[in-house]
Amino acid sequence: MLTPRLKKGSVVKEGKPGHNGLWPEFIPPKATDSRSPCPGLNAMANHGILPRDGRNITKGMFNKALEDTWNFAPTLTRNTTNASANLFGRSTLDLADLAGHNIIEHDASLLRHDAFFQPDQSVPARDLIESLLASASGPVTPEHPKGQVTPGDLSRFFSLRLAQSKKNNPVFSISGSQRFFATSNASLIYDAVDGDVATLETLLLEERFPENFETAMRARKGYTIIDFALRSLEISLGVHTVNL
Ligand code: HEM
Repeated sequence: MLTPRLKKGSVVKEGKPGHNGLWPEFIPPKATDSRSPCPGLNAMANHGILPRDGRNITKGMFNKALEDTWNFAPTLTRNTTNASANLFGRSTLDLADLAGHNIIEHDASLLRHDAFFQPDQSVPARDLIESLLASASGPVTPEHPKGQVTPGDLSRFFSLRLAQSKKNNPVFSISGSQRFFATSNASLIYDAVDGDVATLETLLLEERFPENFETAMRARKGYTIIDFALRSLEISLGVHTVNL
């Protein structure tokens, strides 16, 4: 935590996909490919960093890809992939397995309509993504030419999504652990790309890495469980009741 962050452009190591901003080709998924409710993992499969068919992914494949691409700390990848394998009771996963309702996937997501309305959870909800990006309150700067989504924006948007789902979804439910998953995933919208609206447009709507993409998680020892938990806590603390 105390060492200086890696320089921009130096996070992806030589020999790894994405070094010098050169990512394997983006190929949109075929109808037979397996995709998930997660834009990060889908984008990795669309670029061939995870298997392009999205199937039979081992914990080792996830760990390596998450560390090389996003600079997740090894302790975080092991924790996340072990927890996922335990939740699903399988050592290999197809991306579509992650859509199992109320396992990790939950109602009131930021980027997907609830499974009651949208059974195929691999489909990005364009209207929700556009509303989230339109709500970005971070200023336009040379680093963020279309503005920045802040942790406060993510708290506000999640509060709104909870109210919408509660009002409209007759089978709405969300447990404490799913709220935790929700704010953890929201953390990545901020930390993985510095909330950059221009990057998020491409990543969330097309599940593609923009030109010269690089993770914004530039800590020398990677993005740790503590970084993740603190950001998630910050977003959780900003969640409030919205009456619709
Ligand atoms: C092993 C690693 C990962 C697993 C198992 C995983 C799993 C999931 C699942 C199941 C969801 C759906 C949750 C919901 O219902 O909203 C999700 C959403 C999401 N994930 Fe991942 N993910 C992983 C890594 C990543 C990475 C590397 C990113 C980086 C950008 C990411 C960003 C997101 C975002 C932004 C959402 C959307 C949250 C929402 O719609 O509310 N995830 N992930």
